[in-house]
Amino acid sequence: YPPSPPAPMTYNGTKLVHDEAHPWKPLMAGDIRGPCPGLNTLASHGYLPRDGVVTPAQIITAAQEGEFWQPQKGISYDAALTATYAAMLVDGNLVTNLLSIGGKTKKTGPDPPKPAIVGGLNTHDVFEGDASMTRADAFFGDIPGFNHTLFDQMVDFSNRYGEGYYNLTVAAEYRYHLIQQSIATNPNFSFVFPRYFTGYGESVLALNLFVDGRDDTTVLGGRKLDMTTALSFFRDSRFPPDFHRVSSPTGSEGLREIMAAHPVRPGRNLDGKINNY
Ligand code: HEM
Ligand code: MG
Repeated sequence: YPPSPPAPMTYNGTKLVHDEAHPWKPLMAGDIRGPCPGLNTLASHGYLPRDGVVTPAQIITAAQEGEFWQPQKGISYDAALTATYAAMLVDGNLVTNLLSIGGKTKKTGPDPPKPAIVGGLNTHDVFEGDASMTRADAFFGDIPGFNHTLFDQMVDFSNRYGEGYYNLTVAAEYRYHLIQQSIATNPNFSFVFPRYFTGYGESVLALNLFVDGRDDTTVLGGRKLDMTTALSFFRDSRFPPDFHRVSSPTGSEGLREIMAAHPVRPGRNLDGKINNY
């Protein structure tokens, strides 16, 4: 049997997470990063193994320690746990208990027989998916690479709807835009389970967890992410100087609101045609 997940940590407030014990370090030859700026950052600061090959338990511990991703009040199941094991099942090696946070690697050990993929988080359409905030759709190539064109769109939406900041309104507008853009440009666009939920999820995770914890404005109360901090996480896998984790356990606050702002049904472009969702 695989090892059990670690128990939820007792929350003891915001704290400095960009501390002396967790310096940012540039990549060494062979280090792996992938499509998730949260995990990339945790790896580049040593909350996760810096080579990017990890166990589910390490992810859950790091997400809580470094970012404090925990269920918000009223949500009975830990979203970090669900995401971790969902990704592990489709992208990880269930025999060695190792997962690459990016591309396929021998470091996860010999592949078990099919249908196991063991391709790491870069694997398209099993967990990773289309309409990402700063990463191109698989159809256009380079899934894990930071895409500056997309980031510029995020900046533009933040200017138009958030006075230069990414907030809940921007999250809703930008998410809707990403979906419409992929419908209009990607003949293979797909936005079905689980991507349907992780797409909305990532839009609010950035707002929940990338804002310094000394600012305790809630997401619904107007919490906002500045673009310098956003770039630091999304492009550089780096906590801003002096970064403090969130001031109360959170993760998916705001998800319902951004879904409700522009309801879209799960679906895909049929017959390999654009504008055929
Ligand atoms: C994508 C944040 C934990 C797997 C993303 C994105 C954000 C994010 C903002 C969107 C990236 C973009 O499209 O530009 C976080 C934060 C985490 C966290 C703050 C807290 C520690 C996790 C966990 C997993 C995971 C636990 C699963 C093991 C992924 C994957 C993607 C992703 C596979 C790519 C999805 C896609 O855009 O196609 N994450 N994440 N993340 N995350 Fe995380
Ligand atoms: Mg993607």
